This record gives sequence, structure tokens and C-alpha cells, in this order.
Amino acid sequence: MTTKPMFDLAYDGGFAIGAFNVNNMELCQGIIEACAAEKSPLILQISKGARKYAKMIYLKAIIDAAVAEYPWLPIAIHLDHGDTVELVDQCCKDGFTSVMIDGSHHPYEENIKVTAAATKVAHAVGVTVEGELGMLGGIEEDVVGVNPEEYQKNLHKFVTDPKQAADFWEKTRVDSLAVAIGTSHGAFKFKHEAKLAFDTVEEIMKTCPGLPLVMHGSSSVPQEFIDLVNKYGGKMPNAKGVPEDQIHMAVTKYGVCKVNIDTDLRLALTAKIREVFATKPAEFDPRNYLGPGREAIVSMVRRKVGAGVLNSAGKADAVIKQWEKLGKPMPAFYGKK
Ligand code: G3H
Ligand code: 13P
Ligand code: ZN
Repeated sequence: MTTKPMFDLAYDGGFAIGAFNVNNMELCQGIIEACAAEKSPLILQISKGARKYAKMIYLKAIIDAAVAEYPWLPIAIHLDHGDTVELVDQCCKDGFTSVMIDGSHHPYEENIKVTAAATKVAHAVGVTVEGELGMLGGIEEDVVGVNPEEYQKNLHKFVTDPKQAADFWEKTRVDSLAVAIGTSHGAFKFKHEAKLAFDTVEEIMKTCPGLPLVMHGSSSVPQEFIDLVNKYGGKMPNAKGVPEDQIHMAVTKYGVCKVNIDTDLRLALTAKIREVFATKPAEFDPRNYLGPGREAIVSMVRRKVGAGVLNSAGKADAVIKQWEKLGKPMPAFYGKK
């Protein structure tokens, strides 16, 4: 399904939809198994880098299998950080139900231009669209950002302007908006205490009533996983994420509808694989380290969708009912070759 039935309920329902990044079969199976066990709606998101790494033809087959295994589970398939209208168009044709067009690194007018163009293309075939305004921290291969330290020091320069958000929404007609409030992508988000601009979220909720807000860079980088990674030969000193109680507050108190999590899944998988390699040096059957890695992803995602963080566990049936109420809409290209 698209994200619409999900956000209709999440908007003032005291829960958010977890958007989890998928790059291979183990990640997809771990995420899906956790959400099925918790009866939680979910967004599977695919970045440009994931498309390149796994090839869309394989990712599509893996995701189709997940949908077939749990037909009752509300799932949206979303492009993460799309950077061109052409990529958005291709994803619509590939069967995505939702796309992000990230023009946040462009000057404001250019961001409006590329976002409005992508929205037009996606809406024409019934696909929902997420835009981004303001700048996030973190530097990654395919996602433009700001050095996290500089980001925290000069946060006021990068946070989303609530008045501009209203103008952006009016001119682009996006269905949801990723806002910059102090989070960064990756495992090194804060040097000192984690601090998010919740007052900005409150202001944007006022200037853009009804617009679902999205938090990127929302991994918590749990210390126990960093300790495991470092204990078994890794080197990730000073890694720090957004504490889970702050995510919970963003969701339950400030009404954030979508929360993006990638780094915590990478950490869970890596910590487990490192542990197997270090404690069983003779092991060389990939199933015996990818299997435990997949289990670690299941536990991580169950923890995320639970009442202490996103609070989306148990909401699957209600989302399906909302989707039925809307007439079970599906994007035009869904299921087509
Ligand atoms: O926001 C970025 C996501 O973590 C995806 O990262 O471009 O390395 O796949 P990636
Ligand atoms: P993390 O790096 O905090 O997991 O954020 C992921 C993200 O925002 C994907 O778009
Ligand atoms: Zn992101």
C-alpha cells in the first residue's frame, strides 16, 4: 500500500511507522519477521545505493516474497533519498508505492522545482511522495549532508524553517515532509549530549496542519551493540545516536509519523557476525553467521516497533481497515512487469 492509510492513523494516533532500509535478503526477512510478530505496519525503504548493490530485479523478488508470505501485513515500498525525477519515475515503474525526492541540498527554489516535478510524476500513478526541507547531518556515499560536529555547532543554520515549510508544502503538494531537527545519518550523530529541536517540530505542526512529518537519522546506536562490535575486533569509538526515549517523545508527544532507521540494523547485523567470527574462528558457512545476524535484526526491529519507541505494534489491522475504507488504492504500476 501507499503511506497514506498509515499516516492517516499515525498523525494523531500516538505512533509512528518505522521505515527500515533493505539491502539484501537477511535484512528484509529480519524486518518483516519482526513486524509480523508484532503486528506492526512498516515501510521497507530502498536507497539509490541499495538499488546499485543488490540490483532492483533481486530486491523486487525478495520483497514480493515477503508480501506473499504475510499478505495481511501493511507494507509500503519506499524510495529513500531519491535525487532525480528520473529515478522517481523509474521507481514508480518498478512497483514502489512511495518515493522520497530529496532536494534539500539545493537552493530553496531549486528544491521546490525538483520536488514539484517529482510529485507530479508520482501522483500521476498514485504513488505517495516525501520531500525534505532543511539539512541533515552525516556524510554518506549517496546522501548529501553536513559533518555532524559542524552540524551540531551551527544547528540553527540547518533546521527546517516552519514558515518556509508551509510555502514548500503549498508549492510542491508533497504527502509528507522530512524535517531537519538535529539528527544526522550514520553512527556518529553527537559529540556531546543528544539535543533535538522539538520546538521546531511543534512550530511546523502549526504552520503545516495535517502534513505528516518524517524524522531521518533516527537510529539510537545502542551502546551494547557498539560494545560488542568493539569487543570483537571492530573500531567504532565515540559512536552516539538519538536516545530511544527521545524518539518515543517525538512520536507520542510531537506527532512525528515516520521514523527512518538504517544504522541500527547495520549495527545489529555487524555485531553478531563479528561475534561469530571471533568466537568460532573455524566457522565458514555463511548461514551460520548470516542466520544469527538475521535474528539480531529481528530483535532490533521488535524493540523499535514496541511501545517504548515507535508504538506501532498491534496497529496492522487498523491500518488495513483504513486502507479498505479508502477503497484499497494501489499505484498504477503495481504488479505490472
Ligand atoms: O539515509 C541514508 C540511508 O542510511 C541509506 O544509506 O545510501 O548507504 O544505502 P545508503
Ligand atoms: P540512521 O543512519 O540514523 O539509521 O538514519 C537512516 C535514514 O535516515 C535513512 O533515510
Ligand atoms: Zn535519511
